Amino acid sequence: MKVLVIGANGNTAARTIRRMVDSPHDPVAMIRDPSQRARFDEMGVPTVMGDLEYPIDHVMQGCEAVIFAAGSGGKTGKDKTILVDQLGAIRSMVSAQMNSVKRYIMLSSINNDVNSTSPIKHYHKAKAHADNHLVATDLDYTIVCPGGLTDDEATLRVAVSSELHGSGRTSRENLAATLVACLDRPNTIRKCFSVLDGDIELHSALSTI
Ligand SMILES: NC(=O)c1ccc[n+]([C@@H]2O[C@H](COP(=O)([O-])OP(=O)(O)OC[C@H]3O[C@@H](n4cnc5c(N)ncnc54)[C@H](OP(=O)(O)O)[C@@H]3O)[C@@H](O)[C@H]2O)c1
Repeated sequence: MKVLVIGANGNTAARTIRRMVDSPHDPVAMIRDPSQRARFDEMGVPTVMGDLEYPIDHVMQGCEAVIFAAGSGGKTGKDKTILVDQLGAIRSMVSAQMNSVKRYIMLSSINNDVNSTSPIKHYHKAKAHADNHLVATDLDYTIVCPGGLTDDEATLRVAVSSELHGSGRTSRENLAATLVACLDRPNTIRKCFSVLDGDIELHSALSTI
């Protein structure tokens, strides 16, 4: 499957693309800065230019699935959280629909809530609105909700749950492996689940979703 990875230059997305290179799937990296192209050229991965704050219909051409792994990050203002994590995400869903790209995997977060009172409520609210929009579409979505992200090595052992609130850590490697594995798992379609580092082998865990 040709898979558009949005936010490709990011810490989780780059790991996701590296894993996909070793899989039957063909990643396409959406980047917003041409200087980021070289790392993908080295992997033989094609790039497309796109910024979630502007129209991105052109980036979907020929793709069969989307993995959304972008985010404005903690160092930008709250306005960017709305513009990228919420409205940019919704823009990508609309583009997917317009281009008949049915499969859509969202990297989300635990503790998203439109009524969040958390210290990062602007983020949890924005992500909740985006997730809610996705659930209301006709897309074949999967919403993957990690805990606090770490750069720990892959264990490929996780705990998955339909419980979306709580605390815990998720290594970006385990998360990347989860996002790629969902592409081959129809049982994850129209599902939303949390994934934390845990004890269960990843594929066994995903079979319980
Ligand atoms: N950090 C955590 O503990 C945590 C916990 C739960 C969930 N999450 C979610 O996981 C996501 C991925 O985390 P991460 O650490 O891998 O993220 P990251 O390294 O900050 O990567 C985010 C990517 O999004 C891209 N981006 C930002 N604005 C964009 C725009 N307007 N158009 C297109 N791309 C844009 C960035 O592009 P540039 O490279 O060009 O800047 C960057 O490559 C986060 O965004 C968050 O929603 C994070």
